[in-house]
Amino acid sequence: MTKLHILSNRLPFSVKKNDEKIELIPSVGGLATGMKSVYGQFEGSWIGWPGVELDTCTTEQLLEMNAMLKEEKCIPVHLTHNETLHYYEGFCNKTIWPLFHYFTQYAEYDAADWESYVNVNRKFADAALSIIGDDDYIWIHDYHLLLVPQMIKETKPSVTIGFFLHIPFPSFEVFRLLPWRMEILNGLLGADLIGFHTFDYERHFFSCVRRLIGYDITLNHINAPDRLILVDAFPMGIDYMKFHESSRHLDKQSENEKSDFTKQLEDFILQSPDRKLILSIDRMDYTKGIPHRLKAFANFLQNYPEYRQKVTLIMLAVPSRDEVEHYQLLKKEVDELVGKINGMFGDINYTPIWYFYRSMPYQNLVELYHACDVALITPVRDGMNLVAKEYVAARTGIDGCIILSEMAGAAKELGEAILVNPNNDNEIAEAIRQAISMPADEQQERMERLQDRIKRYDVFKWAAEFVNSMHKVQHLQSEYNTRRVTPAVVQTIVEKYRLAAQRVIFLDYDGTLMPFFKTPQEAKPDQQVLNIIKQLTLNPKNLVTIISGRDKDTLGKWFDNIPVNLIAEHGVWIKRSQQTWQMPQVVNNKWMDGIRPLLEGFVDRTPGTFIETKNYSLVWHYRKAEPEQGEKRAKELKDELTHLISNMNLEIMEGNKVIEVKNGGINKGSAALQFLGNRHHDFIIAIGDDYTDEYMFRELPANTISIKVGHTRTNASYQIDSVAHVRAVLEILGTT
Ligand code: ADP
Ligand code: G6P
Repeated sequence: MTKLHILSNRLPFSVKKNDEKIELIPSVGGLATGMKSVYGQFEGSWIGWPGVELDTCTTEQLLEMNAMLKEEKCIPVHLTHNETLHYYEGFCNKTIWPLFHYFTQYAEYDAADWESYVNVNRKFADAALSIIGDDDYIWIHDYHLLLVPQMIKETKPSVTIGFFLHIPFPSFEVFRLLPWRMEILNGLLGADLIGFHTFDYERHFFSCVRRLIGYDITLNHINAPDRLILVDAFPMGIDYMKFHESSRHLDKQSENEKSDFTKQLEDFILQSPDRKLILSIDRMDYTKGIPHRLKAFANFLQNYPEYRQKVTLIMLAVPSRDEVEHYQLLKKEVDELVGKINGMFGDINYTPIWYFYRSMPYQNLVELYHACDVALITPVRDGMNLVAKEYVAARTGIDGCIILSEMAGAAKELGEAILVNPNNDNEIAEAIRQAISMPADEQQERMERLQDRIKRYDVFKWAAEFVNSMHKVQHLQSEYNTRRVTPAVVQTIVEKYRLAAQRVIFLDYDGTLMPFFKTPQEAKPDQQVLNIIKQLTLNPKNLVTIISGRDKDTLGKWFDNIPVNLIAEHGVWIKRSQQTWQMPQVVNNKWMDGIRPLLEGFVDRTPGTFIETKNYSLVWHYRKAEPEQGEKRAKELKDELTHLISNMNLEIMEGNKVIEVKNGGINKGSAALQFLGNRHHDFIIAIGDDYTDEYMFRELPANTISIKVGHTRTNASYQIDSVAHVRAVLEILGTT
């Protein structure tokens, strides 16, 4: 049976050793909290680090902890002290974490940390490989394991691999700073599905893949050489009903059912019934903007003295990564700031900030969400932020207000919150005032809409959508595989070829016989291509034709000494072997002068682009342009051209990184048919890679063996991975 396994750095439970006793405690952080809710639904194991160093455990402790984790369907990957130092504290939390959160000044680039990261990723990959079946699914999580997808794919290509990044994916300008950027991207591209919280992270990732790796991207598909990879945004949700029901339970509980914590909170509120409570909850992390938030709160008390004594900030910070220096410095800064603000604005009856530096049991967390009037969540950068969503779920009274940083992924979904720039103390101070004085009906209106959304797209829906997309990509890939030119397909083609007496072979040039180069002139045929064509033409049963969008002079020059037929400019010109160029239809090029200025304007505004002038067409090339700008401009150009040529018998053709304007009604399909005429044939093969070749695939007789190079959708009956594979097939035919 197909299983789905989970792989993440942290298991949902971390091991705690108390007086040599082993205890499992729930791990904190968005990943563990979220995945723990859905994990029970999957058949499979959760593989991860139990959070203690291997060298500090006795054999008995290890055995005991392994057994306890096994009960929870967890498989531990044990890390040594040296590995936690270099892999976890080092590369994960001193390199990737700060860099991906735009704290470039904190990012360290240490070769020993990188080496350890590679080794530990290998350790995780091996642990997974030892248990996953050939057709299983594996869902890998977060920035600790960016290399694992490729490591697994290389060994077990049939496994469907999903990867979800729980933190932001930074813009290219930041990502490019990483010395190991290529390794990281290639590692990730071992996955079949890659998920991010928001479209912005997805967009940044695409931009890095385009610029650094050069793969083509259509919609949200990456066309890698060996397969199609799907990329999408899946904003992670929470277990809404769990928080909501726990909070509803608080509404209904009798006096003696109340926890001490709730009683303390209620006593405090009773002392002054118009008191407002503001809640702030995070891991103690510099990305969470805690010092800025404190300063903003101080500004608020300063600017609005009438609220002193009446507003309390309850600030919970969970200890996190406290071996890393920047976290220690942050803790010190926060301690000092809290002391200073409490000193400045507090007195014997009033402590403006209640500060807890510890983890809290789930129940207390809900009690806080339930009791506080405002949630103040102002990270300077945050992949998602689940605390904001948990607060929404716990507001059973449909009241309360969220002040949320626009730099949190959650801001994209929680538009009804008061959105603030986390670096703007005055804006936050003003937002606090707005929140605590917001009329009840406005609170309700906003909260209702927030609850609707968060309830609908909860963590179960999120996980189900991710898993569905894994099925989808698996389906798309297997659809491709059913059309892939495998050795068995080659065998069939060779058999048909052998039996045929009159064979017709249509070959596109760029992207089919030759790979792409920055400029068209560079793609001159190499010796292997010339040999292949020569060899095929030597056989008198073969009618070999190169059918290309290239101009006739270039093709004529390149294949001067070979008895091959040439079709140039998509069919404007035909040259049968040993004959001169013919133009089967009368076409003109008078229109060019009217069109050229528009193309020139685009060249001027788009560095790296240029115009190619063929006899009967004009081509705007953007392969050398900055990729995103090139694509954007190509759309603009197409749009403007459509208007310009509306009354002319012209056509716009989109090729591979080119936009071509040419005479209407002429394409490779009609040209190929015309070329065939009434000639008898019992074998036709047509190979091409782009949009212009689709005409040929569509129009040639039904028994044609049509082959598309690459993974994108096609009318061809077969698909083949690359130019190298095309050449290999043609070499076999040439020697058959
Ligand atoms: P991150 O993943 O960066 O830590 P999130 O806001 O996405 O931030 O997730 C934090 C998770 O940790 C939430 O599910 C929250 O309930 C939990 N959590 C936060 N603070 C505490 C705390 N003091 N005690 C226990 N759990 C906490
Ligand atoms: C963030 C990360 C998680 C991580 C969590 C807690 O949410 O995305 O992968 O588990 O922080 O951090 P820690 O370093 O304690 O695992």
